[in-house]
Amino acid sequence: MAQPPEITLREGRDEDQPQIRALLADCPQAAAWADTYPLLIAEVGPHLAGFALYRVIAEEGELLNLAVHPNFRRQRIAQKLLLAIAPFASVWHLEVRQSNVPAVALYASLGLRQIGRRDRYYADGEAALLFSGAIARHRSTP
Ligand SMILES: CC(C)(COP(=O)(O)OP(=O)(O)OC[C@H]1O[C@@H](n2cnc3c(N)ncnc32)[C@H](O)[C@@H]1OP(=O)(O)O)[C@@H](O)C(=O)NCCC(=O)NCCS
Repeated sequence: MAQPPEITLREGRDEDQPQIRALLADCPQAAAWADTYPLLIAEVGPHLAGFALYRVIAEEGELLNLAVHPNFRRQRIAQKLLLAIAPFASVWHLEVRQSNVPAVALYASLGLRQIGRRDRYYADGEAALLFSGAIARHRSTP
């Protein structure tokens, strides 16, 4: 049986922006913007399958955006992206919509903990959950 294509990670480039915006159009739960912060891209064969946008200031990291294309979800691409940026900061912070069950499960599986909540944080009135902690592999995964 044919092996599935390998997932590879690389730094993002300006030329990736059109594909990032196309991916975001398919991911309404992601943050709306993609900017010029450090960007880590996951590719599956020729496809830009996902990305993590982040910044690190004085040992503290902030995950600014994260998305995996619907066709490539549940293949541990987001986990791979987050474990790759994990060493860049000892503690990470992020906000996530409270209804975003997949993202909340992902962050909890990597050891991040909810440390707060901001009511009516998003333009549509939804609350944000604030997560913080070190990103680490918490469950044994193949
Ligand atoms: C959230 C998101 C990035 C996850 O990407 P992914 O590549 O499918 O996630 P992974 O395969 O790496 O999942 C790793 C773990 O996260 C959890 N998880 C991920 N998706 C899940 C889901 N739909 N339901 C429950 N748990 C989920 C599981 O614990 C999973 O481990 P497992 O497969 O061993 O059970 C993806 O669903 C997405 O792009 N969503 C839209 C954009 C978004 O919400 N971004 C986050 C904004 S804060």
